[in-house]
Formats: sequence, C-alpha cells, structure tokens
Amino acid sequence: MRFEQDIDLGKELQKELELEKNWFEYVDAPNNEIGKDSFRVFIEGIRFSIDNCVENHPAIELGVRSGGTSGIILETIFKSSFPKRWLISIDPYGMLSYRSGMHSAQWSGMTYGNELYRTALNLLAEYSCKRSLNHLFLKMKDIDYFRFYNDGIDLYQNSKHVKCNKFSFIHLDAEHSIDAVFEQLKFFIPRSVENTVISIDDTNFDELSSCKKMIEEYLKASGFELWLRSHKNKRSNYRKVETNTQS
Ligand SMILES: C[S@@+](CC[C@H](N)C(=O)[O-])C[C@H]1O[C@@H](n2cnc3c(N)ncnc32)[C@H](O)[C@@H]1O
Repeated sequence: MRFEQDIDLGKELQKELELEKNWFEYVDAPNNEIGKDSFRVFIEGIRFSIDNCVENHPAIELGVRSGGTSGIILETIFKSSFPKRWLISIDPYGMLSYRSGMHSAQWSGMTYGNELYRTALNLLAEYSCKRSLNHLFLKMKDIDYFRFYNDGIDLYQNSKHVKCNKFSFIHLDAEHSIDAVFEQLKFFIPRSVENTVISIDDTNFDELSSCKKMIEEYLKASGFELWLRSHKNKRSNYRKVETNTQS
C-alpha cells in the first residue's frame, strides 16, 4: 500500500504551487506571462458580479486544487466595493478519479490528494485572516453540496444568521464531463440573480467543446448571455441578463 505522503506532487505541480502563492499579483496584472488571457476574463467576471449583484450573495468555486483561483477571487473581493462578501470553495481532494479538462481520458486524480488540501487550506486561511475576508472551505464533492445544501447554506455574520441560496460569481472548474457540467448548471441556474456570472474553465476541452452549442442554448434559455470568452475558447463567462425567464 502506498501512503499519500510518499507521493511526489510532481515538478509541474510544485512549480504551480510556487506561482500560486503569488496569485494576488494576477489581479493587478492579469495579462502577465502566466496569467494570460484566461485570467483577464476570469478576473473581469469576478469584478463585474461582485460589484453589480446588489445583495450580498456569496461567490462559489467548484474545484480548488492548490487554491490559486480561490485566492484570486478572494483578492478581487478584497478590492471590490463588497469586501465582506463570502467565498465558498468546494473540493473533495482524496485522490479521487474524475474527468478533468486536461485530458480526454479519465484523469487519475493522483495529484489531488489530502496533502494538497492541507497546503491549500493553510494558504487560503492565512490569506483570509490577514485581510479579514469571509471564506468557507468545504472538503466535499459538488454533488454532495447540491444534496446537503439544496435549501441553502447557513452563514453567520454581524450577529445575524443568513441562509444563502443565491450566488453572485460561480466558477466551474471541477469535473469537466458534459453530464457533470449540466448537473452543475441545473443546480446553479435557479440560484442565480441579475448580473450573476458563471465562469466555466476549459471550455476548449474536447467533450465540452463539442457540446458548446447545447450548453449555450441551455444558458440562453435561462436568461444568460455569453459575455466574455478567452483566447482559444479556454474560458467562457456567461452573465445573467434576464431575471424573468423560467429557470
Ligand atoms: C483543475 S483543478 C482546479 C484548479 C483551480 N480552480 C485553479 O485554477 O487554481 C480541479 C479540481 O477539481 C477537484 N474535483 C474533482 N472532482 C470534483 C467534484 N466532484 N467536486 C468538486 N471538486 C472536484 C479536484 O480535486 C481538483 O482539485
């Protein structure tokens, strides 16, 4: 039996971890060598939804890895007009196999273990603490969140209990199979408001790319328009423009 701590995270991931420690720099310079266009689109989506969703609806991210994009969302919230907005980050870790956007074959999940969870937890906690940000990090699968929190999640702030079941910014970067993405959209679309942004990563991934039209028609029928798309279709941002559609 091989224990998780014996597994080397791998050179590539180590390199990424180093870079992601400096994630906040992307927010001010999203077009740098690493950030490129996909980060610019990502950050514009966060900024827009955080500044324009009038109620204090949380942002949410599915798929956290080492915390790079959660960090960028937190930094953008920090610099926004609603710095107390919550971010909920969801990832089961535990080296589960899932269909990622990097390979069309099943991805082994070997590098998404609990060691990585501890690293991300540590980085994000320190970061949120320093900036007094509201961050909730849940170690679970997206479908478990959908089941447990179907009626909303309880957040506590300023002597108040608030049940939250609407979201401002929604980042989908977990499982990238077409079935999984539709499950995610089915959950989040009824939980969106005017100016909610859904940002989907890896829309150039062959499975998602081949179903692009279907995804877009579904979103359009639910009041979302395609708003920004990054170079080579890597990331797509959809913005909710109509609130009176059946969702
Ligand atoms: C591509 S990585 C996320 C990268 C991160 N958003 C970033 O850019 O810094 C995908 C993550 O999805 C997680 N994941 C896999 N299946 C999941 C599921 N069912 N629900 C939530 N997260 C999942 C994996 O553990 C992995 O950490």
